[in-house]
Amino acid sequence: MAANIMPITQAREVTAAKRLENVRYAIRDLACVADEVTKQGHKVLPLNVGDPLNFDFQTPPHIIEAAYKAMRDGKNGYAPSPGIPEALDAIRGEAARKGITTVQDVFVTSGVSETVDLCISALVNPGEDILTPKPDYPLYSAVLCKLGIALNAYDLNEEDAWQPELADIERKLTPRTRGIVLINPNNPTGSLCSRQMLEQIAEIARRHNLVVFADEIYDKLILPDSNGDVTPHIAFAAVAPDVPCITFGGMSKNYLVPGWRIGWGIVSGDAATIKSYTEGIHRLLRARLCANHPEQYAIKPALEGPQDHLIEVQRKLRSRRDLTQKWCESTPRISCVAPRGAFYAFPRIDIPESDEIFVKELIRQKHVMVVHGSGFGQKPGTQHFRIVFLPDEKTLTKAYAGIADFIRERYGNG
Ligand SMILES: Cc1ncc(COP(=O)(O)O)c(C=O)c1O
Repeated sequence: MAANIMPITQAREVTAAKRLENVRYAIRDLACVADEVTKQGHKVLPLNVGDPLNFDFQTPPHIIEAAYKAMRDGKNGYAPSPGIPEALDAIRGEAARKGITTVQDVFVTSGVSETVDLCISALVNPGEDILTPKPDYPLYSAVLCKLGIALNAYDLNEEDAWQPELADIERKLTPRTRGIVLINPNNPTGSLCSRQMLEQIAEIARRHNLVVFADEIYDKLILPDSNGDVTPHIAFAAVAPDVPCITFGGMSKNYLVPGWRIGWGIVSGDAATIKSYTEGIHRLLRARLCANHPEQYAIKPALEGPQDHLIEVQRKLRSRRDLTQKWCESTPRISCVAPRGAFYAFPRIDIPESDEIFVKELIRQKHVMVVHGSGFGQKPGTQHFRIVFLPDEKTLTKAYAGIADFIRERYGNG
């Protein structure tokens, strides 16, 4: 009798799908090592996560007010799947300011992360592929792994200021390649593409019928070159109005609200060519109901309202980039292409062990957290690490002193 009322327990282990085995997110995976160190009572200096709100950057108050007002005004139900009309209108205005003249569609998503997921999912069939940069922002390979799509990465060339290596793109193209990802300004290298480079990529896209995914989430965070000149960001879709392109943009970085999860896609190119694909994206947009609703009311005030915060953000980033670059240039075993956008530096390091060991031991011994280059992909035989230079100058100086001591103590000054 008692046996009949015993709860039935499931004996077999529940395993995750095999296709997830290659999904890595090195940036957050290091958290376990940091936890170890924190439990021992040390404070870790976090140069690993690209969240400006962890540091001395504040969301512009008028943007917060707009989202707050929307909540108070009862905009708390589901939104239309593509986004609320006034936000779509503002994004079209932004596309025009970026010089994109052939806009066919715009839509709002829960962060650029969702744009990436939807746009790739709506395009690739099993057996096809998408070219992604190496090193890359790891979400791209994670989404491709999730879909069971084999990775096909093209090199960014460190010797050429981390520009895409055109010969490698040509080598990697197959008859089944459907698109190419271009991250500009780039995470993790901080590089910026030249107009000539964009034109050359457009030419390849035309010849091979590729969709270009232009991830321009950092397009307002541009840093001066070594002469102190700031070249404005050039949108891929402005250079190649005829090429099927989705430009990714969002609020997380330019408007300092990464926790709100607001991003968007701007579809451009020839209307007839891109129609069926755009319909596929809309099928997925409807299936996931909508992006965050009240926050969408902040898109128009953000894009069309005062941009003063950007002056302050750029001033801080410039000073922190310069400090970072000077440190890289004066530290044995380290060299670095000067970042020209976003808030990342990707120094190369000459050490006799893997950059993953370097990074983990650095956390354990000096309590400084950066991310290993192998977490983003890199050319075999090279080692790198990614620095997020968002912290203030005092914190960066302390962190860099810790890294320099660690290198000297562990490897000697080379
Ligand atoms: C290149 C790049 N694309 C997309 C994202 C994701 O942005 P979101 O916060 O809009 O999802 C990030 C975030 O760091 C990024 O660096």
